[in-house]
Amino acid sequence: MKFKLLIVFLLIAAYGRAQNLNIIPQPQSVNKQEGQFYLNNSTTVGTTDTSLLALVSYFQKEVHKAKSVALVQNVNGSGSLIDLKLSSNQQTIGAYTLNITPEHITVSSSNKEGVFYGLMSLLQLIKDQQADNDKNICLQACKITDAPRYQWRGLMLDEARHFFGKEKVKQLLDWMAYYKLNKFHWHLTDVQGWRIEIKKYPKLTTIGGMGNYSDTSAEAEYYTQNDIREIVDYAGQRFITVIPEIDMPGHATAANRAYPEYTGGSVAGYPNFTFNPANENTYQYLADIIKETNSLFPAHMIHLGGDEVAYGVKAWSLDTAIARMMQKKNFDGVNQLEQYFFKRMADTVTSLNSKILAWDEATGGSLPPDKTIIFWWRQNLPGQLHLALQKNYQVVLCPRLPLYFDFLQDTGLVAGRNWNGVFNRVTDVYNFPDRQVPADELNSKLIVGVQANIWTETIESEKRLDFMLFPRIAGLAEAAWTLPEQKNELVFADKLKADFKNYDAAGIYYYNPFEPSLHPEVVDFVPRIKLVKARSYVRHASKRRHGKINHNKYASSKKGHKSSKRSHKKRK
Ligand code: ACM
Repeated sequence: MKFKLLIVFLLIAAYGRAQNLNIIPQPQSVNKQEGQFYLNNSTTVGTTDTSLLALVSYFQKEVHKAKSVALVQNVNGSGSLIDLKLSSNQQTIGAYTLNITPEHITVSSSNKEGVFYGLMSLLQLIKDQQADNDKNICLQACKITDAPRYQWRGLMLDEARHFFGKEKVKQLLDWMAYYKLNKFHWHLTDVQGWRIEIKKYPKLTTIGGMGNYSDTSAEAEYYTQNDIREIVDYAGQRFITVIPEIDMPGHATAANRAYPEYTGGSVAGYPNFTFNPANENTYQYLADIIKETNSLFPAHMIHLGGDEVAYGVKAWSLDTAIARMMQKKNFDGVNQLEQYFFKRMADTVTSLNSKILAWDEATGGSLPPDKTIIFWWRQNLPGQLHLALQKNYQVVLCPRLPLYFDFLQDTGLVAGRNWNGVFNRVTDVYNFPDRQVPADELNSKLIVGVQANIWTETIESEKRLDFMLFPRIAGLAEAAWTLPEQKNELVFADKLKADFKNYDAAGIYYYNPFEPSLHPEVVDFVPRIKLVKARSYVRHASKRRHGKINHNKYASSKKGHKSSKRSHKKRK
């Protein structure tokens, strides 16, 4: 009996693999049909809907980049071999139909996002095929209907610890679009650096932008407001929303270096970690920063951080002005003061008609549920998720396990964090959230999606950044887009292997979980930190330059895409 069951299981698995087309994330439904469509330099692409013309050009360029096939843009619109359409039946944002017949290809959706994602699926199918001698790319006829599981499919990049610059960020946005990820959370301020130009407070970047995790005296690196507009626009063309994070009241050291008049004081290990809640001018200063920031990001969402403030509040309890304020306001502890501070800054955000985003520490406060999104990151505190849902907050799931991509991704790797020996393997990412989050919580409409975060204490080079992101970013795409009933680990493994040739073609250095020895670990330096549980090693930051240890011949060299960097005289 057991043997028969095994045979049935193997047959089902084999059928699933045979039906498979190499598209990541896995679409909702794929039906192979008879015949093939041949794509070549005389294939026309067009639309009768002028609002889709930008997508036609985008697709044309991507196909040319990938395969050197120059599709012909059909200026008349109708009668194109590849036809883009906006249909009238209302669909979920991002849902689409891709129909490939031997005669035509149609990509349709009720919304532009959907048409774009249909084109991304088609692009993946094109990339998967070799052109024949006549430069024909042969595509299997099929009908795909697809829709995302979650509307928030995010990736967070920390550029405060190490700065990567515009070109690298654009490349990352390209890959996000390829995988149908749509929220780029940009961690721009922290202990080690302030990376966003604020015109009213120029020292934030000229002084606060100096230094990084591995070199505290590095020249200032940051994004000008024009750089930011350029990135936001670039992301927008790919249907990616950019959300800035201005972390407060903790993780404020770089800002406090620039404007020490707003620091909340120091204790051993945490110099100038927080802003000063007892100085009324601090609130105006931060409100000015929030206003300028808000004007650069059309999404009208500001992430205010709010994490790990406990590391800095010891300094608050030693300050007499802060003690006086707490007494006057009848606060019974620094925790209440922290909430007061955060609420005031959150009110600034909502006064600008923007949404407040915050790490899960903010769940304990009194932020307005209809204007707040909580980021649940502490997987060891499931109560925080529970409480956030109970208080009617929308929630993005981004727990350290398995969604922190600075954590190690396998045994045998050494540079990176882990949590009590647990690794964040690509399959753990792929299987998220259903094996980890209780079904009654997962079923809540308040869960808006899934996000991976990559902190960069141990990541200095682009090569290591790629090594930590790829292929886990593909697992993330399936976690955020694909319904559990459409998931199949064997199929995913096949698709990953097929996608590796696209990584190779793009010069992406990735971890290969199937043959790790092919791509040895990239080690930028061994951080002089214990690989501890939390991100608490901020306290070790900015003390000394960390010596770079190149463990092997594959250790990375930094390719200096520092397009946005501004030089600044080093401080004495
Ligand atoms: C965090 O990792 N401190 C959000």
